[in-house]
Amino acid sequence: MRERIQNRNVEIAVIGLGYIGLPTAIMFANSGFNVTGYEIREEVVKKLNSGTAHIVEPEINKLLQEAIKSGKLRATSNPEDIKNKDVYIICVQTPLREDKTPNLEYLESAVKTVARAMKKGSMVIIESTVPPLTTVRMARLIETLTGLKAGEDFYMVHAPERVMPGRIFKELVYNSRILGGITRESADLAEILYRTFVKGQIFKTDPTTSEMVKLMENTFRDVNIALANEFAFLAHQYGINIFEAIELANTHPRVKIHIPGIGVGGHCLPKDPYLLLSSAKEDFGLIKKAREINEDMPLMAKDLLFEAFKMINLPPEEAVVTVLGLAYKGNSDDTRNSPAYVFIEAIQDDVKEVRSYDPYVSGTHETLEEAVKDSDAIVIATDHSQFKKLNWEELGKLMRNKILIDGRHVIDKPPKGFIFKGIGRGEY
Ligand SMILES: NC(=O)c1ccc[n+]([C@@H]2O[C@H](COP(=O)([O-])OP(=O)(O)OC[C@H]3O[C@@H](n4cnc5c(N)ncnc54)[C@H](O)[C@@H]3O)[C@@H](O)[C@H]2O)c1
Repeated sequence: MRERIQNRNVEIAVIGLGYIGLPTAIMFANSGFNVTGYEIREEVVKKLNSGTAHIVEPEINKLLQEAIKSGKLRATSNPEDIKNKDVYIICVQTPLREDKTPNLEYLESAVKTVARAMKKGSMVIIESTVPPLTTVRMARLIETLTGLKAGEDFYMVHAPERVMPGRIFKELVYNSRILGGITRESADLAEILYRTFVKGQIFKTDPTTSEMVKLMENTFRDVNIALANEFAFLAHQYGINIFEAIELANTHPRVKIHIPGIGVGGHCLPKDPYLLLSSAKEDFGLIKKAREINEDMPLMAKDLLFEAFKMINLPPEEAVVTVLGLAYKGNSDDTRNSPAYVFIEAIQDDVKEVRSYDPYVSGTHETLEEAVKDSDAIVIATDHSQFKKLNWEELGKLMRNKILIDGRHVIDKPPKGFIFKGIGRGEY
């Protein structure tokens, strides 16, 4: 298999063509491999084969068209089309259920599809983020369904994906990668495969370690954001600006405090800490507590808003509130798990009207002026660059009352004439 991979002489099937699977399929196709993308959503398959991507990502349409035109990539919904491939790369979603336990239905269904299609000697790679011990369990499932033995009759690897949307095609090449092989030979072969386009470092380990590594990375960030949020909460009680305090603390050579804010959104950070805990019998409670703190941050923004209503004796049920930003991060259209929605849900039954404006997200007010006209309060929920350059004097003229709540540290100096409150801005 070694030489065949190096000569691009292996057939690859990528299972699940979403934010991760589609760019991965394109990368392998444009590196010279024959790639079949298997996706259950037929409308997505149709669109992709016509050369249009269904996700937003820089350069994706150009690279997709290159792959389709060269004949190296084809999408399909027919499991017959992925029979007897040499390599299967599983990139399906691994979300949480309502009760925060992992929903591995998509993964199990993809593994079963692969088990029906693969042959002796195939390599199965899971790129999805999964709870610890899942890859070993999936290897056992394949063994049961096929009668083949993992590590002897087929290779199995967990290869977690660490790319960030908006930079996927750069990071696919330059990020370092962790390959958790069920045997050393599995990891070695996967290294040869990824080395065909990866320029970053490649580290090899066992699958449970690689599952932990991926989950620890996102949990590290989530817990550190929760710590910054707790500092912000304390700053209100002590009457200081937490951002000044963090800047000063971060001058220490071994301190790097994260940024507090209205909440943590996106596809990964809000779910991965729960995936990390889900396979354990016991834990210390720190990770869960951090998650709860971050999930409650929109309520801290609500408290600030209602304190401001009180200051001007405005009954909340008469208030019109404009939320600036629905995306979970600045300059992005991604609204998955965005705290802006949690905030809106938390206030909408208590106030007269909630409006929103986000230049990147459809379905909000067309213009900022329209969204702000006659409203009583503006709440900044996303740090889009545009919001850092607003003319507050002019916006204030359009408003009925001038309350400004900054959930993302967009405002450096509170604008004149506004009642200003911000997360972590305890100073007056
Ligand atoms: N999006 C990110 O930024 C990111 C970053 C790192 C890791 N991850 C991880 O990568 C995995 C995939 O995430 P994503 O954002 O690409 O998800 P996604 O929802 O965008 O894509 C998953 C795709 O798989 C398809 N699918 C589901 N079940 C299938 C099946 N049985 N057979 C074929 N297709 C199937 C879905 O229709 C969908 O198109 C997740 O585990 C995620 O945690 C995502």
